[in-house]
Amino acid sequence: MTQNLKAYRAAILHSLADPTEVGVEASYQYFADGILLVEDGRVVEVGAAEALLPRLQGVEVGEYRDALITPGFIDTHIHYPQTGMIASYGEQLLDWLNTYTFPTERQFADKAHAADVAGIFLKELLRNGTTTALVFGSVHKASVDAFFEAAQALDLRMIAGKVLMDRNAPDYLTDTAESGYAESKELIERWHGKGRLHYAVTPRFAPTSTPEQLELAGKLFAEYPDLYMHTHLSENRKEIEWVKELFPARKGYLDVYDHHGLIGPRAVFAHGVHLCDEECARLGETGSAVAFCPTSNLFLGSGLFDLQKLERHGVRVGLGTDVGAGTSFSQLQSLNEAYKIMQLQGNKLDPFKSLYLATLGSARALYLDQHIGNFEAGKDADFVVIDYNATPLLSYRMQQARSLEERLFALTILGDDRVIRETFAAGRSVHQRD
Ligand code: GUN
Ligand code: ZN
Repeated sequence: MTQNLKAYRAAILHSLADPTEVGVEASYQYFADGILLVEDGRVVEVGAAEALLPRLQGVEVGEYRDALITPGFIDTHIHYPQTGMIASYGEQLLDWLNTYTFPTERQFADKAHAADVAGIFLKELLRNGTTTALVFGSVHKASVDAFFEAAQALDLRMIAGKVLMDRNAPDYLTDTAESGYAESKELIERWHGKGRLHYAVTPRFAPTSTPEQLELAGKLFAEYPDLYMHTHLSENRKEIEWVKELFPARKGYLDVYDHHGLIGPRAVFAHGVHLCDEECARLGETGSAVAFCPTSNLFLGSGLFDLQKLERHGVRVGLGTDVGAGTSFSQLQSLNEAYKIMQLQGNKLDPFKSLYLATLGSARALYLDQHIGNFEAGKDADFVVIDYNATPLLSYRMQQARSLEERLFALTILGDDRVIRETFAAGRSVHQRD
């Protein structure tokens, strides 16, 4: 046995499949007293302590009491430059962008500022147990360099890209079709596939790009293997009307992207709150993904996401926070709001489906499930240690709970950054709460 072998002992829970496809019981694996065995940043094995411990003579074992180990959470849509403007009052999408977002993002022309915020942002993700995220930068190339430098220093699996935006935004925040293409290409050459980093071609949303810019974005998306495409889609009713005015020749909002080749595997569309059946079907048949961002959809008054409709059409759905329109970095808090959004539509969100959405489901939405999302042997050792006694109320609630399902549900409703005792990325401890 090598010296890099390390074992972690606690209750362990991870998703194996989508509960909607295989039923709840077959969708997860749970060890009340489990061992997660890690070597050189990867999962070697997960199992019951009773079975594994006898084979682990001489291996260091980190033991956690009253704790649950799960895979690290995955955030399929978030904006790092908006960290400092989270919780900005009173507007819906288009006014919110003009009033708060654009002036905030202007500051990212300054690389030193971008580096400061990237550090704060990554720390906040890790404090909340999120180990992978699909991240918007700003329009400035330096914002993406700053972000990837910070992520690389922590050896995190992260996806990010420079915003493309050549119209309908302040002059100080626009590029051109050509400069956006050239700068994105430079960033791809520098960062895509370097360690655990991936690049996403990132047109902000249809209204802020000319057809020429979308055309070049589509060209770029096709030019490199495993590249991502990351944008917004059908979030707000006024936005949708605006897209119709700007692109009268297109069938609808999704068709604007589709027409320019911005669809398919690794294309991730944030929101999709107001999609018709035809659009859902197109997303499903092309293997595209939609990021469900519950706290943002409620905060901006955008509408109620219809998870069941998207899933009926075979769309890959991930979970996103969408900070700074989202109100929390915590995917547990996203699940809290997701549950309420489902309730308002007469639907349920099973706690094991919640676990799936925050981990393996989001990994699948990002086509990263060969690397992350659960504890299959060989996957990245990205995991969190959750403290059942993080707050007096949580602790008391847990004492009443009679089943794992009940405990998991209470965690998704009451949990936030306080329950994340420790976060590991590629087998290294990257956040300790205490
Ligand atoms: N649509 C275009 N830009 C944005 C943004 O920054 N946040 C959200 N939520 N929607 C957008
Ligand atoms: Zn967003």
